[in-house]
Amino acid sequence: MTEPTYATIKVSSAKRVGRIQLNRPAALNALDERTMDEVVAAATAFDADDSVGAILLAGSQKAFAAGADIKEMVDKSAAEMRAADWFRRWEDFAALRTPVVAAVSGYALGGGCELALMADVVIAGSGATFGQPEINLGVIPGMGGSQRLARSAGKAKAMDMILTGRHVDAAEAERMGMVSRVVEDGELEAEAKTVAELIASKSKPATQVAKETVAAAFETPLQQGLLLERRQFHALFSTEDQAEGMAAFQEKRKPRWQHR
Ligand code: HXC
Repeated sequence: MTEPTYATIKVSSAKRVGRIQLNRPAALNALDERTMDEVVAAATAFDADDSVGAILLAGSQKAFAAGADIKEMVDKSAAEMRAADWFRRWEDFAALRTPVVAAVSGYALGGGCELALMADVVIAGSGATFGQPEINLGVIPGMGGSQRLARSAGKAKAMDMILTGRHVDAAEAERMGMVSRVVEDGELEAEAKTVAELIASKSKPATQVAKETVAAAFETPLQQGLLLERRQFHALFSTEDQAEGMAAFQEKRKPRWQHR
């Protein structure tokens, strides 16, 4: 099978980690239609690949992504936006079953911030800047920011960021619950890689089910979520990896995951 070639992203894989790097430096990785298509296509391909256990999404040192591409949107009419259902394709990204680790350095603004919010684990460099500045363009977040920011950071912080458009630094983003860990900028790449490889080294059915079950916490009432968790836990006893993981514990050795 020939590898697809991409114009706006770099794609590679090693040690069960599929890596997608946004690569539109002249536009600070602004997400135009082509970039959106390519990120979703590459991530979907990794998701379907049994040899990939985690996806690592990175930008450049200056920008994770400076938002949706304003130059591409500027002349669009409401009818065109609605007809194309602009940003709908990100639902496919959010629905990936493979855990996604985002390595964020530099600007993560607008759609860039929303892309980070779609990731499962967000590792930020200490110099990263997050923001939802759409209000300064006369619009609002369109890739999930109003919903996901409110859920991860709470109403007070979501309103603060979305109504004022102010940027927050990595330390504040971590305090707000938008970010999993902050590391020195120079350590970001290595730390994100380590985290992605660690997740990818676990049993794939278990990490997929774990992601699905935590994600359900944002959709379901508590009792329904607790029941789902219990049923998912029970269902994992049908996997070879559950038998292997528990046997390995008893035998005081490392498990050899079959990912099934
Ligand atoms: C298109 C962008 C862009 C963007 C930057 N560029 N952000 N192009 N869309 N979102 C381009 C600039 O036009 C410029 O190209 C080049 O990238 C470098 O940017 P500069 O502004 O010269 O860099 P700097 O002075 O360092 O400022 C960096 C910045 C600023 C603070 C990140 O670029 C900025 O504020 N960008 C816009 C951020 C934003 O508003 N994002 C939200 C977008 S709306 P040229 O060719 O001019 O040199 C969104 C949500 C969508 O994401 C949902 C609502 C519909």
